[in-house]
Amino acid sequence: MEQKKVLLAVTGGIAVYKAVALTSKLVQANFDVKVMMTESAQQFVTPLSFQAMSRNDVYVDTFDEKDSAKIAHIDLADWADLIIVAPATANVIGKLANGIADDMITTTLLATEAPIWIAPAMNVHMYANRAVERNMQVLREDGLTFIEPGEGYLACGYVGKGRMEEPEAITERVVRYFTEANPLPLKGKRVIVTAGPTLERIDPVRYISNFSSGKMGFAMAEAARDLGADVTLVAGPVSLDTPARIQRIDVESAADMLEAVLSRYDEADIVIKSAAVADYRPKHAADQKMKKQEGDAAIELERTTDILKTLGAQKTHQLLIGFAAETNDALTYGRGKLESKNADYIIVNDVTNPDGGFGNDTNVVTLVSREGEKSYPALDKRMLAHQLLTYISEKEFDHS
Ligand code: PMT
Repeated sequence: MEQKKVLLAVTGGIAVYKAVALTSKLVQANFDVKVMMTESAQQFVTPLSFQAMSRNDVYVDTFDEKDSAKIAHIDLADWADLIIVAPATANVIGKLANGIADDMITTTLLATEAPIWIAPAMNVHMYANRAVERNMQVLREDGLTFIEPGEGYLACGYVGKGRMEEPEAITERVVRYFTEANPLPLKGKRVIVTAGPTLERIDPVRYISNFSSGKMGFAMAEAARDLGADVTLVAGPVSLDTPARIQRIDVESAADMLEAVLSRYDEADIVIKSAAVADYRPKHAADQKMKKQEGDAAIELERTTDILKTLGAQKTHQLLIGFAAETNDALTYGRGKLESKNADYIIVNDVTNPDGGFGNDTNVVTLVSREGEKSYPALDKRMLAHQLLTYISEKEFDHS
């Protein structure tokens, strides 16, 4: 999907701090974000915070034209694919309901043809006030969309309805909005995703494993599901909840994972090998706990089967997506794995990057294929997974 443009209109309430987080989340989700602020919003947070988060100029004054060739509020109104007023005060809601245009935000909102979402944040009694209710009803009838505030402790000390929706939830809604505007590209596809580490037993109390948390693989599974696929998630030992509408098969060792994937391979359209599979296992796993002896000990290891390579050798119609976890010369090794395993894509991550790799919520990857390479900045693993699979499915599947 081409990068979508979100214009955030920030009005003056204590929830302005949430708008800073929202800007960051939207940027992480790869939206191009521009911010406008009212004067009162600037009493809470400076424009610089939004500038730093959005990496774009912040618009605060209708008459402060940044480019003499353009009229800023008209240009912004035309630029946006979506405008979100967050937090939206009773004041801005009242102005919009009455067609008042007396600052940067209200003039832009009157001039736009983009959809407008309103995320109110105010005191519980203000929210229930008849005039505010009336104004909100007018805006609903005018076709604006409301992001309902939540209930809970409010900054004014009251408990009730009026808390601005959380930035993560708004971001997910924005992602869904733009995804649903497009047909689901993986509809009807059967996808197998592997996730997490494998565990190779030494004896009943000891094992060999690695630091994979399963987060990347689970994110790939959720992204495939959200793009319309029927997903089977083959998970090594991880402590993550099973995502909704995904069939999960728990396995322990590389051998178990091989069997779980191979037995479903013929019916699969896509296999995504995010799991960090052990390359070696103890040649003989002891039935009983091994007793310590005087001096050193050695464990004889044997190779496990390379699952991805096996799939690559048996490939008929399936699309094979592997990962490469590297600590040095990541791209060179990643390109090598694309060939040696006969994969269609390899997602290369340098696991020494502090923003990526094992256990982190974010990852930094380069997608390698025979057609070229595409690098992604540090992104939340869910957002990253969504972008990777959207990109791959646009390349691979005909949507006409
Ligand atoms: O789980 P997280 O904490 O979120 O961390 C994510 C991750 C770093 C584990 C993930 O992004 C990742 O890189 N997964 C692949 C790890 C790995 O095993 O990489 P590799 O370079 O050793 O293997 C290359 C590919 O071959 C992988 O797709 C792997 O699943 C596959 N393989 C490897 C060995 C083996 N015996 N069988 C395999 O199928």
